[in-house]
Amino acid sequence: MARFTLDQSFDTGLPKIDQQHRQLVALINDLDEAVEKGTAKAMIGGVLQELIRYVGNHFTDEEALMMRHNFPGLPMHCQEHDFYVTRLSQIQEGLLDGEDLGRNTLDFLLDWLSSHIKGTDMVYAAFIREQTGYNKD
Ligand SMILES: [Fe+2]
Repeated sequence: MARFTLDQSFDTGLPKIDQQHRQLVALINDLDEAVEKGTAKAMIGGVLQELIRYVGNHFTDEEALMMRHNFPGLPMHCQEHDFYVTRLSQIQEGLLDGEDLGRNTLDFLLDWLSSHIKGTDMVYAAFIREQTGYNKD
């Protein structure tokens, strides 16, 4: 699959968050490429581990930001994050059990992230931009 990049329609207007989103997508692309090339499972596991680590840090940063701004949608947002983290650890367990990382799983990782950014992240980002008077346009 061709490498996916986030165009401007994915910009939340929060530069640090946007940069993290781009890095997340780059890691999913790396994982995709490793699987497509038939890379050894141990190497694929390493890329997945890095993705899991980065996702964890990114979600922690977002949740801290929402908390700092008293964003009322925080609990629901956290539930979405928890869902992704749980799925990622199930995928990791599967890989350790010798399962292949399939196309459906790779598509899920990217699809979930893109719709989360465009839907759920945009809501808190708009709230914070409003509060801080920061206009992304
Ligand atoms: Fe988020």
